[in-house]
Amino acid sequence: MATKSAVISLALLSTGSLWWMTYAPERRGLTHHQQHHGARELVSPLETPEPEDPAEVQLGRRLFAEKRLSGGQTVSCQSCHDLQAGGVDHLVRSVGDHGALGNINAPTVYNAYLNSSLFWDGRAETLEEQAGAPITNPKEMNAGWSMVLARLNADASYHSAFQKVYGTPPSREGVVAALAAYERTLITLDSPFDRYLRGHRQAISAEALRGYEKFRSYGCISCHQGANVGGNMYQKFGVMGDYFQDRGHVTSVDWGRFNVTHKEEDRYVFRVPSLRNVARTAPYFHDGSATNLPTAIRVMAHYQLGRHLSQVEVNELAAFLNSLTGVARP
Ligand code: HEC
Ligand code: HEC
Repeated sequence: MATKSAVISLALLSTGSLWWMTYAPERRGLTHHQQHHGARELVSPLETPEPEDPAEVQLGRRLFAEKRLSGGQTVSCQSCHDLQAGGVDHLVRSVGDHGALGNINAPTVYNAYLNSSLFWDGRAETLEEQAGAPITNPKEMNAGWSMVLARLNADASYHSAFQKVYGTPPSREGVVAALAAYERTLITLDSPFDRYLRGHRQAISAEALRGYEKFRSYGCISCHQGANVGGNMYQKFGVMGDYFQDRGHVTSVDWGRFNVTHKEEDRYVFRVPSLRNVARTAPYFHDGSATNLPTAIRVMAHYQLGRHLSQVEVNELAAFLNSLTGVARP
């Protein structure tokens, strides 16, 4: 898969984006409408999702902020995915229950439901599967299911909420289903760039528009594309240069998808992150090594595209990425 993806991106870089028009449109997060009409844009605006059951969403919202889901009752999902701060913690590595230091940077939960797989290495296929993982991860919430379910069952208000939504007392399936339903409401609509895509040509600045043109012509869009401007394929970090050797101190966390598939070709391969709201989610990369957007843009241009960018080009790309900041639904 990784080799194939690398070939694909190189094919794009050398032959232009036409090649992509025919390749697996559903994997690129394109809407049916775009597939049908032959996509002229490889990025599409975010749509209002199908409504979820309000009672289930309400339960998920409560669980998202629930510290009783952690062993020492010290952290909730919200601790590392602060919804007022772009859905991240702004730390290089997250701090879990009782101050445990994690080993990787926390991605945002906003629009995560649109990603084709979850986690930097894509090891979870669905939000339901993902949501259970931090609860038992010793470096995150460090709890056990029996402990968590005992706490929720002992709380009459949770007991009745689970009964109402699922017809059962608090259960593992119910907890992850409610969290996932809530996460499917964490979408950011109406970014300036989405307004631009919908035909409001003045919605982004001339600088941002030049940035978008470079994002396409330089080939960033070969990896960051679809409704989430990323999140729909696996790619190597270091296509045109050895990022990890240059950075040094390589650990198993840097092996990315290799940790899931154990295939050599997947070493240093990651699920491409979404660039929506990226201006709000510093620091960047799985190792949190880039403290600001201009640095991340330069690193990407160098290691993914073999390009050295001028300050003007960096500013233009940053202006484009800034136009991807949307508004969270209330
Ligand atoms: C201690 C900090 C911490 C807590 C608590 C935490 N997370 Fe995370 N979250 C992370 C980190 C770090 C990652 C990336 C891990 C990886 O990729 O290996 C992550 C990844 C995710 C992702 C994947 C996003 C993507 O695009 O791949 C989702 C969704 C998510 N968390 C939701 C939750 C939910 C729901 C909870 C509560 C049940 C939660 N998190 C609790 C730190 C945390
Ligand atoms: C060959 C595929 C590829 C190309 C081309 C590419 N990227 Fe990336 N991008 C990735 C991958 C993979 C990551 C995740 C790297 C990591 O942290 O391990 C990433 C991460 C990023 C991030 C950090 C996101 C975050 O939340 O941490 C930014 C910003 C970014 N890319 C912007 C760009 C820009 C701008 C360009 C063009 C100059 C570009 N990328 C070209 C694959 C690519």
